[in-house]
Amino acid sequence: MSPKVLITRNIPDTGMDLLKESNFECIINDADLPIRRRELETLIAEVDGLIAMLNDRIDAPLLERAPSLKVVANLAAGIDNIDISACTGRGIAVTNTPGVLTEATADLTFALILAAARRVIEADHYLREGRFNGWDPLLFRGTSLQGKTLGIIGMGRIGQAVAKRALAFNMKITYFKRSPLPAEVAARLKAEYHPLDDLVKNADFLSLHLPYTPGVHHLINSKRLDMMKPGAYLINTARGALVDEKSLVKHLRAGKIAGAALDVFEHEPLLAPGLADLDNVTLLPHLGSATAETRSAMARMAAESVCCILAGEKPENILNPQVFEQKSGF
Ligand code: DGY
Repeated sequence: MSPKVLITRNIPDTGMDLLKESNFECIINDADLPIRRRELETLIAEVDGLIAMLNDRIDAPLLERAPSLKVVANLAAGIDNIDISACTGRGIAVTNTPGVLTEATADLTFALILAAARRVIEADHYLREGRFNGWDPLLFRGTSLQGKTLGIIGMGRIGQAVAKRALAFNMKITYFKRSPLPAEVAARLKAEYHPLDDLVKNADFLSLHLPYTPGVHHLINSKRLDMMKPGAYLINTARGALVDEKSLVKHLRAGKIAGAALDVFEHEPLLAPGLADLDNVTLLPHLGSATAETRSAMARMAAESVCCILAGEKPENILNPQVFEQKSGF
């Protein structure tokens, strides 16, 4: 009997083709909506592999219903939706899609930095509303990036790719990371390490690039928003729950910081009350990795991970290699 793989949302052909070539029986949620929890709980009972989206909660109660599950391949670099130790406890391998989305996410971060600095969305709305009545030296004056300080929190692959772009814009690059970068990497990026609060206080653009864990829940809270310069912008392409959105709305409304540009939200797809009413905020529907090339690469990587693990092999992107040590094979 062919192994069964559940794919919780339509994915690019690169992934589906590979699964079909490998003769897996594929069960796909092809509704144009995230899979419902109840449906996931039912379908998980009969599958060997799962390709999950970042909004599918893969937790211990779900895994209890999955006697034959051997692999969860998350179609994302972030893994905060998965209880990895519960998977490990059941011998289920977990993989993600690191690396392939670095450049796309860094590009989108810069799109947001520029959109916020140059008031691109606000100006687009103004024009479409028929309010443009000729060139005006005072119209939509934004902020130059040249010479401004970019504060990067989380200086992994994506943070470094953002720093590279910032160099080309002649920005000053500061960063915070639990373990500072090796000196030669920091020198190449002209990136200066700062303690977290110091970084927050001095940044003109504060950009988040760290993974979400409960330890960093609301890292950017009211106290840190208070520390930010009045002319500063907050950029978030990492995870929504890193920011206390209620406090952010208050700070933006009161003009205590200049603006925010957000691709991620704590309770996606819901927005914090009041956020969408503000002019000094740019909002995107979680598009960090959304280029055709990147999404195809992510789908291929997730499908390859499933193929590899169901063939008893250990892929490089496995997050809990211990499962291979627990058993000699699958
Ligand atoms: C990820 O991979 O974690 C991103 O948020 C997807 O765009």
